[in-house]
Amino acid sequence: MLILGIESSCDETAAAVSENGINILSSVISTQIEEHKKYGGVVPEIASRRHCENILGVVSKALEDSGKTLDDMDAIAVTYAPGLIGALLVGVNFAKGLAMASGKPLVPVHHLSGHIAANYIAHPELKPPYLCLVASGGHSHIVEVLDYTKFRIIGRTRDDAAGECFDKCARAMGFPYPGGVHVDKAAQCGDRNAYPLPRPKVTGCEYDFSFSGLKTAVINLLHNSAQKGTEVNRENLCAALQYTISDILCEKTIAAAEMLGYKNIAVAGGVSANSGVRSEFEKACGERNMKLYLPPLNLCGDNGAMIACQGYYSYLAGHRADESLNALATLSLEDIGCL
Ligand code: KG4
Ligand code: ZN
Repeated sequence: MLILGIESSCDETAAAVSENGINILSSVISTQIEEHKKYGGVVPEIASRRHCENILGVVSKALEDSGKTLDDMDAIAVTYAPGLIGALLVGVNFAKGLAMASGKPLVPVHHLSGHIAANYIAHPELKPPYLCLVASGGHSHIVEVLDYTKFRIIGRTRDDAAGECFDKCARAMGFPYPGGVHVDKAAQCGDRNAYPLPRPKVTGCEYDFSFSGLKTAVINLLHNSAQKGTEVNRENLCAALQYTISDILCEKTIAAAEMLGYKNIAVAGGVSANSGVRSEFEKACGERNMKLYLPPLNLCGDNGAMIACQGYYSYLAGHRADESLNALATLSLEDIGCL
């Protein structure tokens, strides 16, 4: 079964063709990072305009690279939530137009379920149920993947997402947007014990995260040293920040896995590209005889392949949309399939 997947929830216009979900025949990503960099973050209106300009070319190229035509597709899958509303609307309307004109089924895909599905592409042996940490620019969830389209959220962030914490601290340190990858690079040469950073506590739910206190601590440290005229060692601060975020994400995910009895752990989303996150999970899972699944680096960030893959499983589960499909800026992973 051939699925065309379309993604436009943030600053990447992407499309891919998958065969039976996990066999990726093509994947095209047009990123807008260089343009948003000038403003230090994503400017929603610019993102929507670029999606409008790029989407036809990206989808055409994905079909061309796959060696297939629109006619060959069995369904068209599209990210409809969550994300920047103006950005999502471009992909949703484009996919609706394609589906209605060609008579193909339209499959709505939740962006985070797409991130989770990226692991099926790289690890076809991975099958639900298992526990997955989804950490991106907008979300940090510990998710029980009950089935390919059924999810239970075990923990979530109370404030900032892990990626947001990386990006905001990176910005305060003078790195360009998106800063997570720059923190990762600088951290390689730093001493993670040089700056003691707080590990914010969340009362009430031991599997929830809170990253805003950590972000504030890093920003205050930078302000204080600027006022005193002392130098901050950026490499050391990056190493300390990366270690603190990685350790918190890993500790809570492992605790949730132990509580629920899961031996299979996956990590997904943009932050799963972080070398500290990857090594903390490798260490923790290795020590406990747990099997760890990490996406390859090219599938960690936003891409169309993960949407085409999840689109396949959502299609099999009977998820369909018609011409009334709308984009949603927010939607819980637990509520997918109820259109
Ligand atoms: O999943 P994603 O591409 O987009 C969203 O759905 O949000 O995640 C983007 C986030 C950004 O915050 C970015 O800085 C972060 O993932 N990220 C990283 C790394 N690569 C991407 N954070 C830390 N280290 C990295 N190597
Ligand atoms: Zn994403």
